[in-house]
Amino acid sequence: MALIQWDEIFTTGIAQVDADHRHLFDLINQVHEAFATQDLMQVGAVLDQLVDYSCYHFTTEEAWMWSVGYPKVTEHMRQHDGFARRVTEMQRNYAAGKTAALTSEVLTFVRNWWVTHILESDGKFRRFVDAANEGLAAGPLSSGNGGGPHPDVA
Ligand SMILES: [Fe+2]
Ligand SMILES: [Fe+2]
Repeated sequence: MALIQWDEIFTTGIAQVDADHRHLFDLINQVHEAFATQDLMQVGAVLDQLVDYSCYHFTTEEAWMWSVGYPKVTEHMRQHDGFARRVTEMQRNYAAGKTAALTSEVLTFVRNWWVTHILESDGKFRRFVDAANEGLAAGPLSSGNGGGPHPDVA
């Protein structure tokens, strides 16, 4: 059984971000499946992919945040860095033969981190982008804030 299921509530409406998140869900499920069958080689291989793809996704998302002037980018990056540090350490332990470092609790942490991060933090970014687009559509005169997003929205 899958550890994490894709659902419409995770959709940000930003195509590349959604595609990345779907792929990450798939990798989490692959690690979980390999873990459940105790296929240690496969766990190690997919764990590597999960860490690599997470870091790739974080870099892409952060670059986009900087490019649109997202005011909470530093705070968002701290969340990404915290997760990256934790899973990289887990990956290092696993590669060093400490396979007991990976437990079902750790996998639950990974799943919960992504669910919370996508719904709350990536969701805030989506609302910022939506507000910016609405401001542009309304035009700088009618929006009352120069066409940019309202600070309360971010
Ligand atoms: Fe993020
Ligand atoms: Fe994300």
